[in-house]
Amino acid sequence: MKVPIVQLSLPDEVLKEVKEVLKSGMWVEGTHVRDLEKRFSDYCGVKYCRAVNSGTSALLSIIASLDIEPGSEVIIPSFTFIATANCLKIFGLQPVFADIDPRTFNISPKSILEKISNKTKAIMPVDLFGLCANYDVINKIANENDLILIEDSCQAHGAELKNKKAGSFGVCGAFSLYPTKNMYCGGEGGLVVTDNTDIYNRVNRFVNHGQSKKYVHEELGLNFRMPAISGVCGKYSLSVLDKNNRKRIKNAELYDDLFENVEGIITPTKSEDYKHVYHQYTIRVENRDEIVEQLIKNNIGFGIHYKIPIHQQPYYKRLGYGDSLPETEKAAAQVLSLPIHPLLSEEQIQFVARIIKKII
Ligand SMILES: Cc1ncc(COP(=O)(O)O)c(C=O)c1O
Repeated sequence: MKVPIVQLSLPDEVLKEVKEVLKSGMWVEGTHVRDLEKRFSDYCGVKYCRAVNSGTSALLSIIASLDIEPGSEVIIPSFTFIATANCLKIFGLQPVFADIDPRTFNISPKSILEKISNKTKAIMPVDLFGLCANYDVINKIANENDLILIEDSCQAHGAELKNKKAGSFGVCGAFSLYPTKNMYCGGEGGLVVTDNTDIYNRVNRFVNHGQSKKYVHEELGLNFRMPAISGVCGKYSLSVLDKNNRKRIKNAELYDDLFENVEGIITPTKSEDYKHVYHQYTIRVENRDEIVEQLIKNNIGFGIHYKIPIHQQPYYKRLGYGDSLPETEKAAAQVLSLPIHPLLSEEQIQFVARIIKKII
């Protein structure tokens, strides 16, 4: 039995709409993209959303719009995708890496406190694998220390903490619509959400070369506009997001049951206040290499997020990073993400669990 790590498709009616947009010749932004923005801001319970052409662009336009003085420090986790750090570095900001809470894989509030210096200007937690960071505590830390809170919610479409949606905790939230994400757009795409009118206006200009009126450029900017067909596919994906998240949660519950009381496997943490939407279902194991060998032999897809944390990536090491982050490094050596996408059958999940249990 083959078990792919991701399976993507779009229904015929969406493909028909895509074809109509292509026939119309209106290929950039337009009504579908504006509709997507309106629907996603409503979904997240925030005032504004701006669609862009990737999650990286979403982060970059947020950071460009906040006017943080170059050389300032921004505290982020090291246990995340490299984009979180690169988007700071490219603007001359200093990423300062905090350790994680080993139960959630998310940034540890205690470690954030240890990393605050007189150069710190912002904290940018990541809602990793579809689980919100601990904003109850992190918000307090940000307020008490006068720090901007930016949310990298690129992996957490529809995740909640106490019924509040991911993306709505910081001054801005960034989402990625990369094909493997819980929400996608038939290519690359991203979304910025915010309640702040000034920042929204800045983001809006930044993603369109700082243009205020046609060919009048008030500010510096870049071209991060979303293609029109991504608006069509993104709207479809948003319309099925809750249904697909429910299926991901159901799949996770089945894995949890199958791995219950199995020594040598730690399953993802669950907590009443948090709605985890399982962008990844990531377990911890001691004998990862052995398991991976069997997964490959049995045509089972998997992921290792993240084998090399950012502070140990060659580029950042060359810059002098590499301080020890014990929980991050331990997680990097143990994590293994299993197929969790909404198209999986119960039989496929049982098969994956059976293969793993044989060698644990
Ligand atoms: C946590 C995080 N931040 C940022 C990004 C960047 O998004 P994109 O790949 O759409 O540019 C990703 C994408 O995987 C991500 O996982």
